[in-house]
Amino acid sequence: MCGIIGYVGSDQVAPILTSGLKNLEYRGYDSAGVALADDVLSIHKREGTIDDLTVPESTATCGIGHTRWSTHGPPTDTNSHPHTDCTGEIAVVHNGIIDNYDALKADLEAAGHEFDSDTDTEVIPHLLEEALERYGLPTAVSRVVDRLEGSFALGVVAAGRDEIVAARNDSPLVVGHADDGAFIASDVTAFVEHTRDVSYLEDGDVAHLDGGDVRVYNDGQRVDRPIQTVDWGADAAEKGGYDHYMLKEIHEQPQALRQAISGRIDAVAGEADLELSLPEQYLASLDEIQIVACGTSYHAGLYAKRLLERHAEVRTTVKIASEYAFSPSRDPWRTLVIAVTQSGETADTLGAMRRASRAGAKTLAVTNTVGSTAAREADDALYIRAGPEIGVAATKTFASQVATLALLSVYVGRTRGTLSSSDASDLLEHLRGLPGAVQQVLDEEPRVRTVATEYADGDAFFFVGRRLGHPVALEGALKLKEISYDHAEGFAAGELKHGPLALVTGETPVFAILTDGTSPDETLNNVKEVESRSAPVVGVSSLERAEKFLDASFSVPELGLLEPLVANVYLQLIAYHVANSKGRAIDKPRNLAKSVTVE
Ligand code: M6R
Repeated sequence: MCGIIGYVGSDQVAPILTSGLKNLEYRGYDSAGVALADDVLSIHKREGTIDDLTVPESTATCGIGHTRWSTHGPPTDTNSHPHTDCTGEIAVVHNGIIDNYDALKADLEAAGHEFDSDTDTEVIPHLLEEALERYGLPTAVSRVVDRLEGSFALGVVAAGRDEIVAARNDSPLVVGHADDGAFIASDVTAFVEHTRDVSYLEDGDVAHLDGGDVRVYNDGQRVDRPIQTVDWGADAAEKGGYDHYMLKEIHEQPQALRQAISGRIDAVAGEADLELSLPEQYLASLDEIQIVACGTSYHAGLYAKRLLERHAEVRTTVKIASEYAFSPSRDPWRTLVIAVTQSGETADTLGAMRRASRAGAKTLAVTNTVGSTAAREADDALYIRAGPEIGVAATKTFASQVATLALLSVYVGRTRGTLSSSDASDLLEHLRGLPGAVQQVLDEEPRVRTVATEYADGDAFFFVGRRLGHPVALEGALKLKEISYDHAEGFAAGELKHGPLALVTGETPVFAILTDGTSPDETLNNVKEVESRSAPVVGVSSLERAEKFLDASFSVPELGLLEPLVANVYLQLIAYHVANSKGRAIDKPRNLAKSVTVE
């Protein structure tokens, strides 16, 4: 979704904005632009990529930039941000949606303001034009923000003023603090090569960046937003010799998994230590867990459901966040709602979490992003510690989500007395073995590439699995479709014969998950069904006897209920190599955004 970067300080702003926009590319965008605020304001913006955008050399030391992912109006030069007022002296960048822009625009037009674009954003500079006649920039922004309904993160500059004013409501915005100035951005990645000291704005905040001096106000009162230091640097957000971020992130999984479990496992005692603040007594008395999430995180939730029900003996439902309505089976306060979200900023997931919270449920955010909205708004946060993920396709964060949720299932199971220490020790040992098992799969990449290339021209791709193999089948299909643009579907293997089998031909490769935790013998019967319709079958398997039924097979090391998670790494590599053989834009697939901040 849209990305914002801004800087004011002693350095020239143009190169800072250009590199910041590059760092934000991964969020997904279709146009980009900057405003350089000197004595006059100069705006440079256009539809297309940042490489298409020419930002001239400039002595300006204050400015804002934006990557746009269209919502109101198509991607055109005019609809690109920044947007300006009638005088061309005020520039605004915006992430989010202004719900009441229609009414505001009608009033402004009646008062003589002229609009250029189709966007909702353009009302803001025109409102500011009026407010600036009476107030300084910070107060003017506060007054205007009071009139806006919807979600927004804003950055504002004006000609002849060496200051940025930023505001946030429901859309992420961070402030970076450097010796020579200050930054605003949609996420830390945008400016991490300049500073790792950040503070996170909260809803209702208006921040005034006056050189390196940052003051934050909420509801007219000065507030303190503590500075935190992120524990990763610019190299974590670079490609490190790989052709794509996605491939780098697939290969980072052993390390990401080590980070997820580090210091959290006592395999001898059969205990997981998660430093949760949710009281043990509360977890022991839970009636129900509801997991809310989208996309890949939803698949991680489906995996976790089976682990939680098995280890903690607590009824667990998993809901697509955009479809979620809170309806506890009994007491709301005995229902824990877990929001699984890599970014911690997904609007659908935040909406679901807020609905549950308003109804009296406790919430836990399982997220990768320290300081994210989900982490701050939930009653408690559990970090998956995967490090920054830039590729739009979620890979290492899926593995880290499942590993962290597996730890949670042990923690809740032990707290409730439903999981013996020896069963807990077994799972914890498997978690310890996970990084090594994933590395074994990664070592097989040359063979995976060969098989992927062999089947890349299929008409469609099907993924089947049972039990824990089902979420992995869904995830395998999502990965393939989002980066290759080929039709791919994941099915519960038993469902094939209830409809999808009609689609199976000799040109539809079927990928079957045949590991522990997936009822592989039953799935093997489904494999035979598709084979007799002449479909090629690729097995991802820990079942030796399956091999003779498979056209190609990849072996999964023994790892109990975590085998399907290891199998998923093969499917990630398949998706990557199918897409790469077709020359797709793997890290920035068409129409998609990394962080989906609108509902
Ligand atoms: O940041 P989140 O985990 O909340 O994001 C949820 C989905 O948008 C995300 O997983 C999406 O499905 C990925 N692009 C899939 O690879």
